[in-house]
Amino acid sequence: MTFPETRLRRLRATPELRALVRETTITAGQLMYPIFVQPGRNRRDAVASMPGQYRLSTDLLSGLARRVRELGLGGLMIFGLPEHKDETGSEAYRPDGIVQEAVRRIKDAVPDLLVATDTCLDEYTSHGHCGIVRDGKVDNDATLEFLARIALSQAAAGADIVAPSDMMDGRVRAIRYALDADGRQDVPIMSYAAKYASAFYGPFREAAGCTPQFGDRRAYQMDPSNRREAIREVALDIEEGADIVMVKPALPYLDIVRDVRETFGVPVAAYNVSGEYAMIKAAAANGWLEEQASVLETLTSIRRAGADIVLTYHAPEAAQWLHDAS
Ligand code: PBG
Repeated sequence: MTFPETRLRRLRATPELRALVRETTITAGQLMYPIFVQPGRNRRDAVASMPGQYRLSTDLLSGLARRVRELGLGGLMIFGLPEHKDETGSEAYRPDGIVQEAVRRIKDAVPDLLVATDTCLDEYTSHGHCGIVRDGKVDNDATLEFLARIALSQAAAGADIVAPSDMMDGRVRAIRYALDADGRQDVPIMSYAAKYASAFYGPFREAAGCTPQFGDRRAYQMDPSNRREAIREVALDIEEGADIVMVKPALPYLDIVRDVRETFGVPVAAYNVSGEYAMIKAAAANGWLEEQASVLETLTSIRRAGADIVLTYHAPEAAQWLHDAS
C-alpha cells in the first residue's frame, strides 16, 4: 500500500507516538567519561581546545567520582599526565604512577564506580610514541612486555577494565596472558581494536601532552581509507581475548561501527574523540549550533550505528540533559 493508505507521518504526530516507536535510545549508563589526571594538589587546569574539560590533580577526583556516580554514567576512562617522561615511559607502570594513584583515589571515594584505564605509553614517553623506539622506529614486539606491565599495575591499583590504545600487533594476547598469570583473569580488556590515524585527536594531544616528537603514528594506527582491514583488526583482537572492542574515532567512522556490530557478537564501543567534541563546542560558542540538540543527535547517531558504549567528553552534560528530559 502506498499513499494515501500509507502515511508515515501518522506515527510522528505527537511526542507520545514518537516515543513509542523510537528505535534508538541513549542512557547515561551507556556513556563513559574520559578524564585527564595530573600530579600536584588542588590543580584544575582548563584544556583550551576542549572547553569544559580539565586536567585534575588526584585530590580533586573524589568529588568528580561522586558526581559521575550521581549522574549514573557507565564509568570513567582515565588518562594520566606523568611527572616525568622517559624513553620507556616508566611512570606508566610504576605502582605509584599518576593513573594508579587516580584509580585508588576514585575507588576509595566511590568503590562501585566503574573505572577503565588507558593502557598506553605515549603520554609517558619522552618521544611521544605509543611504543618502545629502536633505531627511530616503534618496535612492536619490544613494546608488548611494557604494555603488559602497564595493564598489570593498573589492575593491581583497582582498575575494572584495561584499555590498550597503542595498536601494536599481539598486545591483547600479551596483556591477557600477563593478567591471567597474575590471577587477574576476571579483569576485562576493552581494546581500541580499530583505531585510525586521525586528525581528530589534535585537542587530546594538547590536553595530554603526547604529540609525537618525530614522525607520526601512521606506522601503527590504521589508514583512514581502510574498511576491510578494520574487520581483520577486530577479529584478531577478539581471538586474542578482547572482551569489548572499540572503534575510534566515532563520527567519521560510523560505517566501521556498523560493520563491526554486524560482523561480531561482542560488545562494541565507539570513542567520540576530542576533535569531535571541540567542533561542537566551538560552533556552539559562536552561536552557530544549538549545543544540547547537536550533542544528543551525535550520540544517538553513534548508538544507531551500532555502538553499545560511547566514550565521550560530553558524558556529564549529556547525562544531565537526559535526566532533565525524563
Ligand atoms: C593514545 C590515545 C590517544 C587518544 C586516546 N588514547 C591519542 C593518540 O592516539 O594520538 C585520543 C583521544 C581523543 O582524541 O579524544 N594513548
